[in-house]
Order: sequence, then C-alpha cells, then structure tokens
Amino acid sequence: MGCGAIGSLVARLLEKKKSSFRVTAVLDAVPASALKLSKSLKSRPEVCSNLGQLLSKCDWVLEAASVKAALPAAEAALKRRKPLVMMSTGGFLLNQKKLSALATKYRTKIYLPSGALCGLDGLKAARQIGKIRELSITSTKPPAGFKGAPGLTAAQKRLLDQSKSAFYLYKGDVWGAVQRFPANVNVAATTALASGTPQKLKVRVMADPKLQSNQHEIHVSGDFGELTAVTRNRPSKENPKTSALAIQAALALFERLESYVEVGN
Ligand SMILES: NC(=O)c1ccc[n+]([C@@H]2O[C@H](COP(=O)([O-])OP(=O)(O)OC[C@H]3O[C@@H](n4cnc5c(N)ncnc54)[C@H](O)[C@@H]3O)[C@@H](O)[C@H]2O)c1
Repeated sequence: MGCGAIGSLVARLLEKKKSSFRVTAVLDAVPASALKLSKSLKSRPEVCSNLGQLLSKCDWVLEAASVKAALPAAEAALKRRKPLVMMSTGGFLLNQKKLSALATKYRTKIYLPSGALCGLDGLKAARQIGKIRELSITSTKPPAGFKGAPGLTAAQKRLLDQSKSAFYLYKGDVWGAVQRFPANVNVAATTALASGTPQKLKVRVMADPKLQSNQHEIHVSGDFGELTAVTRNRPSKENPKTSALAIQAALALFERLESYVEVGN
C-alpha cells in the first residue's frame, strides 16, 4: 500500500532478490502510480482500487503511504489477521494504544522497521535493566526535505527559501514532532517506540542548506553507559524527504523474516 519511493523500490528489489515474499497486489491513492509499479514487475501484481480488495489478495501488507493512511490500513489488516510492515511509524505512535490492542486481540504482528536510522539495537538492549536518563534525537535535512510540512510557520517557510545557515524548525516532544513534520520524523517515532518511554524523548528538527545528506543523531545515556549514533543518509532520488537507507531497512526486515538465523536484536 503506497507505490511511491519506498513501496516501488522495495517491490522491485524483492523481485530482483528472488525473495520468498512476492508482490501480489498494489494499491495507491493515485491509481496511475500503482499501475506503473505493477507494469514494472514480472509478477504483474493486481492493481487494487481499495483496501478491502488489496487485503483479499495478500498474506502480508507493506504500508508505505503516509502517517494519515497508516491507521485505517493497520486496522483493516489486523482485523483480517494480515501481518503488517509499517513504514509510517509516526502513524503507529499516534495510535499506539489502539493498534497494540488490536494486534493483541487478533494475534497478528506489526513490524516497525528501523528505517533511516541506526542505533535502535543498542537502545533496545540499554533499556532492559536500569534507568535511561537522557534520550534525544536530532534530525537535520536540507531545506527541500521540509517543503510542504504541515507544521511550518510562515517565518519558517521564508527561512527554508532564504537562509544560508542551519536553523531549528522544532524542539519538543515526539507527538508534536509527528504532527508538525509527519513525513520527516518517522525516525523519531521509531526511536520513541524502541525506548519504551516515548515521553522521555527530546526531539530536535533542523534544516541545513549546507547539508547534502539526511542526518539523524540519537543520544542515549543511562545505567548501561552512553550511546551516540549518527546516520548520514543519501536522500532517495524519488523523494528527498526519504532516505535510501529506509528502503533498504524494509528489505533487511523481509530478509530477516524469511531467514532461519537472525543477527541483531
Ligand atoms: N520509518 C522510516 O524511517 C521512514 C523513512 C522514510 C519515509 N517513511 C514514511 O514512509 C511512507 C512512504 O514514504 P515514501 O518516501 O515512499 O513516500 P512517497 O510520497 O514517495 O510515496 C507515498 C505513496 O503513497 C501514496 N498514498 C498516500 N496516501 C495513500 C492512501 N491513503 N492509500 C494509498 N496510497 C496512498 C501516495 O500517492 C504515494 O504514491 C511515508 O509515510 C514516509 O513518511 C518512513
């Protein structure tokens, strides 16, 4: 579901890698995008016009649409007991209670890939015993990556066009960040969820006209010690808001799901 930068590349690469996950059906709010993807695949997946049709044609769902589309997609998939890989992790965060309850009720898993971010393995281990004292993420992207974000003020829009130096667009909690920059801070949502204490996460969002990459830095300190992980991502050619690594993370998850040996936590 969602045949943009992530959905299209993941589908093509699953086919190229001869994964045991086959793309059987595709759906996009823009039907031409679904048709284009279907035509590019040897398996010629069915082009669906609604969620119900999509769900009747598959065993698993990859959601790669939007934070807004994530809730209805997840609700429908879980009610039909179809495991779901969700790229719009902000959509999960905003509906965490509801979706966790549904997943438990229908005994169906939701997978939230690490996406464009490294360091979550360490964070997940760090929180098992002892306290986490500090938890932060700073996401910095070139100005083009923030165009169209719903949370931009008029002054910030001007800065995105004119500023020659880096500036903050947001400092605050993760829920505010997802609402204001839904297409930019899925990594913050995933970090918050991986930590088990989303309320502790301090989120900073920055635009930097000198930057060529999408950069995420997480910092964690606690009884385990200290962890800083910096990821400098090449933006995907298809969508500058999205990092190439996010696409590769979805592929890595599918690889893990079909493997009998799993590496990493
Ligand atoms: N987890 C991460 O680290 C991470 C990283 C990058 C992007 N993302 C998120 O993944 C999602 C996909 O990213 P992308 O770069 O492929 O975006 P994209 O804009 O390139 O593609 C999204 C596609 O979904 C379609 N779509 C939107 N709403 C839909 C709906 N209700 N039903 C069906 N199709 C719909 C759009 O028409 C578009 O073709 C976005 O929500 C993005 O924010 C997550």
